[in-house]
Amino acid sequence: VSRAFFAPGRVNLIGEHTDYTGGLVLPAAIDLGVLIEGEAAERIRLESDGYEGVVDLDASGGEGEGWGRFAGAVAAELDVLGRPPVGFAGRVSSNLPVGAGLSSSAALEVAIGVALCAVAEFDVEPTALARAAQRAELRAVGVPCGIMDQAASVLGEEDHAILLDTGTLEHRAVPLPHELALVIVDSGVRHTLADSGYAERRRELEAAIAGEGGELEPLLARRLRHVRTENERVREVVAALEAGETERLGPLFRAGHDSLRDDFEVSTPELDRLVDRAYELGAVAARMTGGGFGGSIVALVDRDRAEPFAAAVAEALPTAHGFVTHAARGAHEL
Ligand code: GLA
Repeated sequence: VSRAFFAPGRVNLIGEHTDYTGGLVLPAAIDLGVLIEGEAAERIRLESDGYEGVVDLDASGGEGEGWGRFAGAVAAELDVLGRPPVGFAGRVSSNLPVGAGLSSSAALEVAIGVALCAVAEFDVEPTALARAAQRAELRAVGVPCGIMDQAASVLGEEDHAILLDTGTLEHRAVPLPHELALVIVDSGVRHTLADSGYAERRRELEAAIAGEGGELEPLLARRLRHVRTENERVREVVAALEAGETERLGPLFRAGHDSLRDDFEVSTPELDRLVDRAYELGAVAARMTGGGFGGSIVALVDRDRAEPFAAAVAEALPTAHGFVTHAARGAHEL
């Protein structure tokens, strides 16, 4: 019997580069993601219309090649958790743009993870599944990411953002205002240095935390200041959302963007331009989203003019593409 599973990508509302030091994040799962269809089999055998080549791996995982590395790594991490070695034969398809900062790899990992657990009748806690998928990212492509993307893909809820404490994995859903639409504008700019830049920021932050108490060099002090102020902004955004005070969101998102640009230095001129344009065109709030070094901005805007707004902001750059999305449910069987 064929079964189908879907895992969403995510957009982060605020709490950027805080998730590898146990900070707060506020992502939402979106309505784009990865679909996997198939059935239990002896081995893991996957095809895809979007990715090249056929993946063929032992049911307990292994190294794999190309996008097969993600499947091999997820299976291997679930094997460590005690998943019975049941394979899966099927097809993978995705409608998430790759490199847009919307976590296409986390969605792929979580989709494969959910499918492998289901066919093996292996029950795993949602946060444990997210952790396994996070470790799979490191195993597959060597990116030392935090847990935000995988957690958002697993925990997402319709019309809610997810407030997650990445230190304790405590989390709760925060309702998003009905009158505001969630808009994403992908700059279309991808930097090949994104992965190495990410790892470098992580090292800098670890050095800054280790050196705390002493005199920090200015660069490390700025990195640390970003994380401190960003954690505070997450708290304030949640408070504003819960109080229905949407006018407080703009200054908080603006400050978050400026901090990523100036203190953390992960924005790009293209993202800065899109954010400026979003405010000029009446966004309630806008900022770059995701790891940076290219990718997308997120904006909250009055629902009744969200479509023309998305198109108008994207006109600021020839490579940009804007669209309206909404906070969606996390990974599930269809
Ligand atoms: C990437 C990582 C996440 C997080 C963000 C920045 O998306 O995968 O873990 O660190 O960057 O907030």
